[in-house]
Amino acid sequence: MEKLLSGKKILIMGVANKRSIAWGCAQSMLDNGAELIFTYQNERLKKSLLRLIPDEQRLIECDVASDSSIENAFNIIDQRFGKIDGIVHAIAYANKEELAGDIMNSSREGYALAQDISAFSLIAVAKYGVAILNNPASIVTLTYFGSERAIPNYNVMGVAKAALEANVRYLARDMAKYGVRVNAISAGAIKTLAVTGVKDHGDLLRLSEERTVDGKSVTTSEVGGAATFLVSDLATGVVGDTIYVDKGVHLI
Ligand SMILES: NC(=O)c1ccc[n+]([C@@H]2O[C@H](COP(=O)([O-])OP(=O)(O)OC[C@H]3O[C@@H](n4cnc5c(N)ncnc54)[C@H](O)[C@@H]3O)[C@@H](O)[C@H]2O)c1
Repeated sequence: MEKLLSGKKILIMGVANKRSIAWGCAQSMLDNGAELIFTYQNERLKKSLLRLIPDEQRLIECDVASDSSIENAFNIIDQRFGKIDGIVHAIAYANKEELAGDIMNSSREGYALAQDISAFSLIAVAKYGVAILNNPASIVTLTYFGSERAIPNYNVMGVAKAALEANVRYLARDMAKYGVRVNAISAGAIKTLAVTGVKDHGDLLRLSEERTVDGKSVTTSEVGGAATFLVSDLATGVVGDTIYVDKGVHLI
């Protein structure tokens, strides 16, 4: 039987382990018939990814801090798989000391690093990715409500997420001529590796959980469902948007 993503090749960037939001996206897309390719940040994460996807051909190194690493990854994907239909960008990073206390104590370097890895990287991925994206295609990134509200300790990452959401709008405008839609999912707080970098993340997770409509955290599989929709042909009218998948936390 034809599935929602049958015949679509999707690149998943940002699986660190089975708790990763990117892994929730991958599972939902596999269930819906997609063929997947993955990038990993470094050799250490490759080992972790190999346990989930024991198919080395589909795993390609890509450190988004480096243009040449991104360009090289897309060249390899092109050679091995040809054109692709979508990219899930589920990548963010800030130094731990920037995710604690008052934002005025942020360092210039720490602020720039958070912007580089968490916001600029989407532009770089779009730039090198466009050559191997089909027309139509879809790019989805992951953001958080800390872009709009001053969430304790989230600091430079909140500012990077605000920039990321603006990047989505500008990229959506400029990539339309290539038939590429660009959108973001604003996911509710989920306990992943990335969240544990935020000081008092237990409070952040608890607060967020208490404010969901049913008192339970959103899951990576629920976020994956929305990502599946956004890369599918059901979402051709959704362009440059940020869709909340947080069980109502942003409303309450
Ligand atoms: N967990 C949450 O509560 C939550 C909520 C909303 C949005 N998000 C966002 O979801 C995305 C995925 O995070 P997650 O929570 O699944 O955590 P995660 O730690 O599982 O994933 C983060 C990924 O970013 C990758 N990464 C970091 N620096 C990189 C670099 N230089 N090059 C390539 N990859 C790099 C890591 O290798 C890792 O795979 C992030 O953008 C995060 O901000 C998370």
